[in-house]
Amino acid sequence: MTILAIESSCDETAVAIVRDGREILANCILSQIDRHALFGGVVPEIASRMHVEALDPLVDEALSRANMALSDLDAVAVTHGPGLVGALLTGVSYAKALAYALGVPLAAVNHIEGHVSANYLAHPELEPPFACLVASGGHSHVILVERYGAYRLLGQTLDDAAGEAFDKVARVLGIPYPGGPLLDRLAEEGDDGRYRFPHPRTDGPYDFSFSGLKTAVVNRAHNLRQLGEEIVPADFAASFRRAVVDMLVEKSVRAAADLGVKRLAAAGGVAANRLLRRELARRGEAAGLEVFLPPVELCTDNAAMIASAAYYRLLDGEVAGLGLNALPSIRMFD
Ligand code: KG4
Ligand code: ZN
Repeated sequence: MTILAIESSCDETAVAIVRDGREILANCILSQIDRHALFGGVVPEIASRMHVEALDPLVDEALSRANMALSDLDAVAVTHGPGLVGALLTGVSYAKALAYALGVPLAAVNHIEGHVSANYLAHPELEPPFACLVASGGHSHVILVERYGAYRLLGQTLDDAAGEAFDKVARVLGIPYPGGPLLDRLAEEGDDGRYRFPHPRTDGPYDFSFSGLKTAVVNRAHNLRQLGEEIVPADFAASFRRAVVDMLVEKSVRAAADLGVKRLAAAGGVAANRLLRRELARRGEAAGLEVFLPPVELCTDNAAMIASAAYYRLLDGEVAGLGLNALPSIRMFD
């Protein structure tokens, strides 16, 4: 089954063509970051307009890279939420029109489920059950993938998402948008022992909390500045990154080990973090787990992951109707 998927939930317009949920034939991404950077963050209206302009040429590009015609497609998939409503609507409308015109089934995919499915593209041998840490700009979850398309929530953030904390602390350090990846790069040269930040505790054994850490970090920066002390940005970034990564790794490794699943995967933009990748591999393997990490380009937003998730939905007979709407606040767990 050859699926063309569209992802337009935030500031990346992405179109991909994937065969049987596992094999990427084309994976095209047009990042809008340069445009939004002028404003220090994503401007929803600009995002929608840029998606509208980019979708048609990107579909053409994906077809040409896959060496295919529209008539070779067996299904169309699209992210219908969560995300920015206007941005989502551009992709949903495009996908509906395309599926209708081609007379092929349409699949609606939850963006977070898409992130998890990036692992199927990167690791052909990976099958459920496995535990997965999902950490992005809006979500931080530890989940159990019981079967394709069937998920159990094990733990989650009680307040901010990990990516949100990265972006906020980056801003305090004067690192331009998008903060997370640049802070990560800066932290590589820093001493993570110079500034000690709290490692917050939570009641749930697999839950996270980042708002206390974020506030402590922001306050420390203000205090140091008031005292006229110079902040060493690389050390500050490294110390903060260490605290976030320790919490993400500790909880997800513990969840997988307690459940007795032998496999732990990671997904979402924060899974691109260099320290997180090293520590998940090291501590996961020390706990007897096989650790799966998608390559960085499949951790951040892309449409190939949406096509993979759609494949397993369609195999289950889950076809979306042409009444499909964008669901900006849809949740994966209630
Ligand atoms: O999954 P994603 O691309 O979009 C959402 O669905 O949110 O995740 C974006 C988030 C942003 O908060 C970004 O700062 C963060 O992932 N991120 C990183 C890194 N790369 C992206 N955070 C830390 N280290 C990175 N290398
Ligand atoms: Zn995402």
